[in-house]
Amino acid sequence: MKKTRTILVLFALLFVITGCTTRQPSTPVSLADKQVKTHKDLVVGFAQIGAESEWRSANTLSIQEEAERLGVELKFSDGQQKQENQILAVRKFIAMKVDVIGISPVVETGWEEVFQEAKDAGIPVILVDRGAEVSEDLYVTKLGSDFLEEGKNAAREMIKLTGGNARIVELQGTPGSAPAVDRYEGFREIIKDYPNMLILASENGDFTRARGREVMEYFLEEYGATINALYAHNDDMALGAIQAIEEFGLNPGVDIKIVSVDAAKVALQAIIDGKINVSVECNPLLGPQFFELALKVVNGVPVEKEVPSIETIFDINNAAEALPNRKY
Ligand code: AHR
Repeated sequence: MKKTRTILVLFALLFVITGCTTRQPSTPVSLADKQVKTHKDLVVGFAQIGAESEWRSANTLSIQEEAERLGVELKFSDGQQKQENQILAVRKFIAMKVDVIGISPVVETGWEEVFQEAKDAGIPVILVDRGAEVSEDLYVTKLGSDFLEEGKNAAREMIKLTGGNARIVELQGTPGSAPAVDRYEGFREIIKDYPNMLILASENGDFTRARGREVMEYFLEEYGATINALYAHNDDMALGAIQAIEEFGLNPGVDIKIVSVDAAKVALQAIIDGKINVSVECNPLLGPQFFELALKVVNGVPVEKEVPSIETIFDINNAAEALPNRKY
């Protein structure tokens, strides 16, 4: 009986001792104690649109170079301007269990399902450059330009250049894409108060030089020298149009005032040469901001829902000074 009591006491002691040693500390774990990830721990999938413009090539390079510099493992996909390719890429990234997915959606609609799949897999989505029409809980943040403001600025510049009297032709970007939709609307929001700013024609130039040239040829056949203004949603289309204008025997920048968007190196040179009058900047160098956001998101640091890029407007007064250091 005495022996049994001794064994029971020993067990009780053992229980108390073990209980004490395994008990959690009563103070909460501080952020410093948590495993904080660095860029080198990140695997990031990026679903790019394609390589339709100078802008896009600079954007791709900025993402790739920054990943390399930071030691991020980047899985990069070129969607060749097709939404179905971008959707496949996102699904591949989900299967790979990447930490974050970055995507520049070629068009605004049709993303709900695949973004929901990423969310269900616990993978945050960051929209880069272009927005998507999805509910806000399906992406963590959108980094990029204010395309509506770019369209408004383009209109303001065109009004200054033409004294409010213009017969305008417009080259639109890819149909259904955020920049095409917003640059179209922004421009109209401003010119609606100017009765002599007339839009003669507006067609899709798909953000490419070849298509810009082709559509401008058609505009010139249709309206000839009555056109005195061209609004192009990007520089590449403006540069294609310039070729058509010169072949038609008119002087770009003089007979036809030209306002475009992006402010790529080639456009700054065209401004210096007097062929483009104004280019509204749209900054493609988003790599550094993108990976900074990706790291914050992975570490649970709150980020803004919209992160704007800082931009300006180029004309004959500042193009030459900016050109030597221009990165795209
Ligand atoms: O989404 C940004 C736009 O896409 C740029 O203005 C255009 O050049 C590009 O292709």
